[in-house]
Parts: sequence; C-alpha cells; structure tokens
Amino acid sequence: MSSAQRIIGVCNGGGDAPGLNAVIRAVACTAIRGYNWRLIGITNGFNGLIWPEQSFDLTLDKIRGILPRGGTVLGTTNRGNPFAFPTETDGVTLTSDFSARCMENMSKMGIEAMIVIGGDGTLHIAHEFEKLGMKVVGVPKTIDNDIHATEVTFGFDTALHVATDAIDRLHTTAESHHRVMVVEVMGRQTGWIALHSGIAGGADAILIPEIPFTIETVCEAIRRREEAGRLFCIVVVAEGVKLPERDAFGKPFPKPVAGQVGNAIGYAIREYLHREVRVTVLGHVQRGGSPSPFDRILASRFGVHAVDLVARGEFGRMVCLQSGKIRSVLLEEAIGALRAVDPESDIVRTARGIGITFGDRP
Ligand code: F6P
Repeated sequence: MSSAQRIIGVCNGGGDAPGLNAVIRAVACTAIRGYNWRLIGITNGFNGLIWPEQSFDLTLDKIRGILPRGGTVLGTTNRGNPFAFPTETDGVTLTSDFSARCMENMSKMGIEAMIVIGGDGTLHIAHEFEKLGMKVVGVPKTIDNDIHATEVTFGFDTALHVATDAIDRLHTTAESHHRVMVVEVMGRQTGWIALHSGIAGGADAILIPEIPFTIETVCEAIRRREEAGRLFCIVVVAEGVKLPERDAFGKPFPKPVAGQVGNAIGYAIREYLHREVRVTVLGHVQRGGSPSPFDRILASRFGVHAVDLVARGEFGRMVCLQSGKIRSVLLEEAIGALRAVDPESDIVRTARGIGITFGDRP
C-alpha cells in the first residue's frame, strides 16, 4: 500500500433493504480494483465512526459471495444518529452529540470521503455532516420507495415480489373459505408497496396513506362483489394508512400503529358486514432474503456511480435513477420531501380501471 493511496469509507443506516450488500460490493470493486483506493467499512450506521475499532478494511475478500445475500455485512441501526445519540443512564434516555468525535475519527482513520447508503433519515444525517465539512456521496435505500428525486430505490422490487407472492397465496385460501382477507404491507408514509402488489396480486381494495378512505366504501365494494357471486375478497393495506376517525358505527378507531392497522380495518369490516375476515401482517419478511435481479442490478449501478462521483470530486450529491438512467442530484434536493403516490397518476387510474377500489371518502 503506497502512502498516497486514497482511503474512502462506506456506511449504511436505518432499516435494511435487499440490495445493500450489492451496493457495498459494487463500491468495493470500483474503489479497490478500479481506482486502487483503500475502502473502510463503517459498521452499524455511523457507530463505526464513533467507535472506530468496530470498523474494518473492506477488502475484496470480505465482499466475496455477498451479492445474493439480504441484510448488510456492515450491520445497521435506526437508533444511531450521531448528532443525537441515545444513551441510557439509570433507565433515563438522554442524547449526546457525537458528531465532532465522528469527524475527528474520520480524519484519524485517513478517510477522505464517505459513501452513505440510506433512506431519508440517514441522508439527512449525511447532509448535517456535510455542513461540518465531511465529503459525502449519498445512495438512496428503502423498500418503501419514497425517496424524492429517484424514480425507484433498490429493495422495493424484492419487497414487491414478497408481497405479491403472499397475496397470491392468500387468494387461494380466501376463495376456498369465502373469506375477506386483509393484508397489511409495509410503507410507513407512502403506499407504493400496497399499490403495486395490490395491482400485481389482483386485490379488490387497496388502502394507502395518499387516498383518504372510509370503511363503508370498502364494505360496499365487498358487498357488490358478493352480489355478483364473488364470495371472497382481498384488501391490501399500507401500514401507514390514515385510519378514518371513526368506524362505520361511530366508534373511534385506535391510534394507527404499523403492524396493527390491518387488524383494526379487518375488525371494522367484520363488524359492518358480519363476514369472516382474516388478517395477515407481512412485516419484516418483506425486508429479508435475497434481492431480486432488478434490485441487484440497480444497487450495483448506484454503487459504481457513487464511487465515480467521489473520483470526480462531486460531493454533496446523491445518486439516483431518472428516466432509466443513473444520475445524481444535490443531497438537499433529495431529502425532506417524500415521493408519495399521486392519486391522479396513471398507475392509480390503472388500478381503478381494473375495478380496484381505494375506498374513497365520498
Ligand atoms: O422504512 C422502511 C421500513 O421497512 C418501513 O416500511 C417500516 O415501517 C419500518 O422500516 C420498520 O422499521 P423497523 O425495522 O424499525 O421495525
């Protein structure tokens, strides 16, 4: 290793998404083989900058075989904001600002620039570090597909496959038992997974945060279907859906919590229609497992392009996909605004066109 060898770091923060390892692999291949740089893997979000002894040299040996693997070889956390790091003393949680320590350790480790892979929260932190002088390139990541400035994030396609497969499976048992099946999928603030898997899986109703709904409208659609001789029904619910204030009988809905909204909606449908209803909450199964080919390819494209941006000295930017091409935007353009489903978009019109209801509030 020559003393002039450049050193860069890579980290990922927030919830994992299938394809993270593919980005890390692409970053390593490009940085080490392509540019002859040294690469340091920062562990568990930014924790590896707070405690540098956790971080390690990401050599080509370390990335062998990781392309098809879910999760991340770096580990991750969604409780590791170095600007407000939670620490517990005597059962009381306080926050400490470790940002200066991260900057200092980065310089001690000889890291010249960081590639930060993350969703909105992690990219926000990257932007805060940029203000302190860190040279940063961002890579967007989330199964929710809701990052502004990129038309798709890796992880979404894999989650979509898992959700669609689940809906296909629920279809057959719903039909045999003449039941209403409610499926809650992920999507903390947006309905992309619900919308796409609902269309792909032939759902009858899709409930998403972007379109206010009522239980009555959903139930009337189920009833009309029943009158037409279709005795089963599939309702796909995004976990972030905004529950109406009250159910069909005027009872207040509980405060919506991811993992419980599907049950609240299932219960309300059962009460209104007196039908057999079953609820499935897919949860983290959507985030686990091997990434789809699309996600592996997108993640690899992002990784290579991120290193190229570092090489060109184009910092403070995030790689993205626009019109099918890999491009980059300023980090501050990418963060702060969510990419929500447009209720007037052609994909929503497609869903309506094939008879899916969104339970629209009249
Ligand atoms: O943002 C991605 C996501 O998978 C959301 O869809 C979900 O609400 C959240 O992460 C779950 O996070 P956690 O791993 O903390 O339960």
